[in-house]
Amino acid sequence: MKQNRAAGLQVSQTKFQEEVLEEKKIAPGFSDTQTLFLTGDAIKILKKFPNEYFDCCITSPPYWRHREYNVLGIGLENTYQEYIANLVSIFVELHRVLKSTGSLWLNIGDSYLDKQLVGIPWRVALSLTDNVRYILRNSVVWHKLKGSPDNSKDKLRSVYEHLFHFVKNKKYYYNIDAIRANARSAKIENGRVVSATGVSGIRYKRQIELSTALSESEKREALSGLESVLEDMKAGHISDFRMVIRAQQRTTHSNMEKVSGRAKELKEKGFYFLKYHPNGTKPGDVWEILPEDSQKRDDHYAAYPEELCYWPILLSCPPDGVVLDPFCGTGTTMKVAQILGRRSVGIDISQKYIDMAMERCRL
Ligand SMILES: C[S@@+](CC[C@H](N)C(=O)[O-])C[C@H]1O[C@@H](n2cnc3c(N)ncnc32)[C@H](O)[C@@H]1O
Repeated sequence: MKQNRAAGLQVSQTKFQEEVLEEKKIAPGFSDTQTLFLTGDAIKILKKFPNEYFDCCITSPPYWRHREYNVLGIGLENTYQEYIANLVSIFVELHRVLKSTGSLWLNIGDSYLDKQLVGIPWRVALSLTDNVRYILRNSVVWHKLKGSPDNSKDKLRSVYEHLFHFVKNKKYYYNIDAIRANARSAKIENGRVVSATGVSGIRYKRQIELSTALSESEKREALSGLESVLEDMKAGHISDFRMVIRAQQRTTHSNMEKVSGRAKELKEKGFYFLKYHPNGTKPGDVWEILPEDSQKRDDHYAAYPEELCYWPILLSCPPDGVVLDPFCGTGTTMKVAQILGRRSVGIDISQKYIDMAMERCRL
């Protein structure tokens, strides 16, 4: 590895040094250098990147007044307002370098000030939606299963952190099929199609025929609806389904027709279907992931677990895309990007952490 210093920026691969610093653009050469690490202040380095370059950014900035890193940087401001303003200015630059179809995944923790929980994650998130035009799509709760030691006698232990998912535009790259769980398919038994959980439609058919809560025309509609759902299952468009028939099954929605389309459907038609995707169920927004074991890391106390990066990359970075982490620390994001075959750029203000990250990614 050859390193060069110029204008406060250290570029760790010669090719990039030429392309980023001199031509202020990156592209050729990146294909044969999967992972690039840059040492310096995130905002200064981001300014050197062209518009709309990255597909997704996954990052965890230093938390306000939480820890001391080995160099000065974000997180040491006197007030949380200054801290948030500094972060927001970085995310303005990040907005520019993200593709129009791009995503930002932001993991950020809270802080206490004079006994008060400041609410930093939401203050930052709302500032990004209100002032930088990011669109917030999910507020994922990272349930850490075990919290840090907390001896206080007047509040609960905290066991979660936020992982916000922002996008730039209403249409964005998102591959939900890449993370669906428990894919199961329907099968044919004795000439009949049977769902992944054993539903063949026979019971629903009988319930419709014997129903006293459905009119004759509603029964005809319900039977033909059932036939077409079974056809869909046979053709592999869905793997499973449930039918909710008036006065038979417990409803799965609010009973108020004003708030629930399904309540309306049940009132007007007498039935509705819940159809399950053949590729499995969509994960929810609470992720149970054990934190990194800080005992094992003498030099960096704030690394997030690799597991936190898998779904964001699979969801929001196409296979030929580029991932960015402007606060990469020990390079967790880059490591997972490498495992998943994505190119990536990691930035950190500390050369020591960049060295650890490069070692981890075996550069
Ligand atoms: C919470 S840690 C990130 C840990 C990382 N996710 C990992 O798994 O190792 C935040 C990092 O931001 C870096 N940092 C602080 N201020 C910075 C700045 N202005 N520009 C770039 N990096 C900065 C710190 O050195 C620290 O490594």
